Amino acid sequence: MSKVLIKQAEVVTMNEKNEIVKCDILIEHDRIKEIGVDLKVNDVEKVIDGRNKTVIPGFVQTHVHLCQTLFRGRADDLELMDWLKTRIWPLEAAHDEESLYYSALLGLGELIQSGTTSIVDMETVHFTDLAFQAIASSGIRALSGKVMMDKGDEVPIALQESTEHSIQESVDLLEKWHNFDHGRIKYAFSPRFVISCTETLLREVSTLSSSYEVNVHTHASENRGEIQIVEEETGMRNIEYLDYLQLANQRLILAHCVWLNDREKQIIKERGVHVSHCPGSNLKLASGVAEIPSLLHREISVSLGADGAPCNNNLDMFNEMRLAALIQKPANGPTSMDARTVLKMATIGGAKAIGLGDEIGSIEVGKKADLIILNLNDFHTYPSYDVDPISRIVYSATRADVETSIINGKIVMENRILKTIDKSIVLKEANGSIKRMIKRISELT
Ligand code: GUN
Ligand code: FE
Repeated sequence: MSKVLIKQAEVVTMNEKNEIVKCDILIEHDRIKEIGVDLKVNDVEKVIDGRNKTVIPGFVQTHVHLCQTLFRGRADDLELMDWLKTRIWPLEAAHDEESLYYSALLGLGELIQSGTTSIVDMETVHFTDLAFQAIASSGIRALSGKVMMDKGDEVPIALQESTEHSIQESVDLLEKWHNFDHGRIKYAFSPRFVISCTETLLREVSTLSSSYEVNVHTHASENRGEIQIVEEETGMRNIEYLDYLQLANQRLILAHCVWLNDREKQIIKERGVHVSHCPGSNLKLASGVAEIPSLLHREISVSLGADGAPCNNNLDMFNEMRLAALIQKPANGPTSMDARTVLKMATIGGAKAIGLGDEIGSIEVGKKADLIILNLNDFHTYPSYDVDPISRIVYSATRADVETSIINGKIVMENRILKTIDKSIVLKEANGSIKRMIKRISELT
């Protein structure tokens, strides 16, 4: 479809001027071609009636794990290291190609249905090619990579890999998938966290990331026990260690960052490192409340992510936005995290974190057409009269209000129906896959 015209919508642009306008949007191929009142266009393949609808940039989630979606509900009420060792690693070790594929599609269906149009995804040790295949067919914009873990205690045999293998497989995947579909998909090196990686591996990742100019995506300073282990092993604070390894730069995306001291915040700021804030996961794993107002005060890049299904247990950006705002208020005051700040983190902030600030994250002529159409005409979002649309989006709206989603100019969901993913097949195969995996684990133990 080469031309799509959205007519007479309320458009929350998230541009520099924070403009909210009532107008038409013309999409041609993958880009926003024109924005204006009463556009006259010939040869339009598709006209969408935008009256009484609100159009916003699609959400950019900068930390998810598609490979973990099948584990939803199987790892509740645990702290990070127990959660990993007793549930997540054994489950990741039980994946096969088919289960990985349906885990990814289940997550992608949920993400697209709840308005996310771009993700930064961390996979498991094996079968990452299947996640890329699912990402490719879903139409979502993504950075993804196989997890790298060449050391650690209590790691199941199936997840143990040598440094050489980890690097070779990462590079092979990068060469196959980086810039697939004109750059819609990108590779990101994904060392799991410092505890899982040798210094040799992390140094090599630093070198490869600069030579290929690709991002590095890892977990950091999520949990007090984790930073203590890092300090014991390296003699350094987590972020200082990453900086010592020359990983701290604008290509680095750090999930969590709950436990930082001032020096670490300073390094993150000076090096232009990006923080992916995961409020739902940080609460559910009892990790803590990240000091986001103090990071924003230092003008550090902060974006949002749901993390994986077994630590949230949803992949819904509306949940994360609401939590990101509310959890700061008791300690830091009611204005410490306002709705506009949160919506920025969820859209343009995420875009900047993945190096696509000029391409996505706001609705502007020339940018890629990644946008969602909301229907805010319901009990829970009314009255609308003279209410700031951003308040309605962040504090009242839910995932069910996302009606249509366009990614890279392509309609991937229309009137809540996914165009790229067959829901009934994915739900059936998700149950079949996890059943097989549980059986495999029980046979091993
Ligand atoms: N730290 C290391 N691995 C993981 C993971 O899979 N999820 C989360 N939340 N933290 C981690
Ligand atoms: Fe995570």
